[in-house]
Amino acid sequence: MAVGIFDSGLGGLTVLDAVAKRLPDVPFVYLGDSAHAPYGVRDADDVYDLTTSAVERLWAEGCDLVILACNTASAAALRRMQERWVPSDKRVLGVFVPLIEALTERQWGDNSPPREVAVKHVALFATPATVASRAFQRELAFRAIGVDVEAQSCGGVVDAIEEGDEILAEALVRSHVDALKRKMPKPDAAVLGCTHYPLMAHIFQDALGEGVTVYSQASIVAESLDDYLGRRPEMRGPGAEAAFLTTGDPKRVSSKATQFLRRKIEFQAA
Ligand code: DGL
Repeated sequence: MAVGIFDSGLGGLTVLDAVAKRLPDVPFVYLGDSAHAPYGVRDADDVYDLTTSAVERLWAEGCDLVILACNTASAAALRRMQERWVPSDKRVLGVFVPLIEALTERQWGDNSPPREVAVKHVALFATPATVASRAFQRELAFRAIGVDVEAQSCGGVVDAIEEGDEILAEALVRSHVDALKRKMPKPDAAVLGCTHYPLMAHIFQDALGEGVTVYSQASIVAESLDDYLGRRPEMRGPGAEAAFLTTGDPKRVSSKATQFLRRKIEFQAA
């Protein structure tokens, strides 16, 4: 029954919350690689090595399907993993494609040629590694034409969140939004392309202003996972127990997670 959810640290909990709400009968095993976070400043080989070992750990927990609830891993490692590494009885899915399908108003599996869509000016907020990969622009170009994307690499935000420093995280978000607005004064949509950022969604929205639609992945990924498991029920793995695992210090990580999600979460050592 179990499904694995992976992130470099706490950010994937925003996705976990949404999928657990939508699929209350599925036991989710969450793995946060806090010992190695942030991933956003690492190179692609490093992200690949860390992500593959984390996914193997989740397979060992009986999760045949693992969601990379981390844009940096999805952008820097997922394609290579799917092409050369994932065995045929396992699946690893990312968080990018569901988001882009939502932004371009496409159904799953709609592989028709790229077409004009309602949004024209998109601000992408993501980690330095995700921005450098250009994976968002690549996936978007398969589906839409005429969309102008301005990417803002948001250095420091993930570290501040992992450290539990909400004041610093807010200040950094405001300065990254200002920097984006200097390049694109009037975006019509903003994508929070890092699963840590929904923890700061209210600050992004406030700094961007009312008129900007802010897309965050949690609910979009939950909907798409629900749909996927409906089509592929056999991908629910044999694991039966939900758990929160961390490569960091379980006590410290539990306290930061509880602070950000405002509900009690207890991590165990991975
Ligand atoms: N939550 C990850 C993402 O979505 C975090 C990145 C990091 O560890 O820098 O990109």
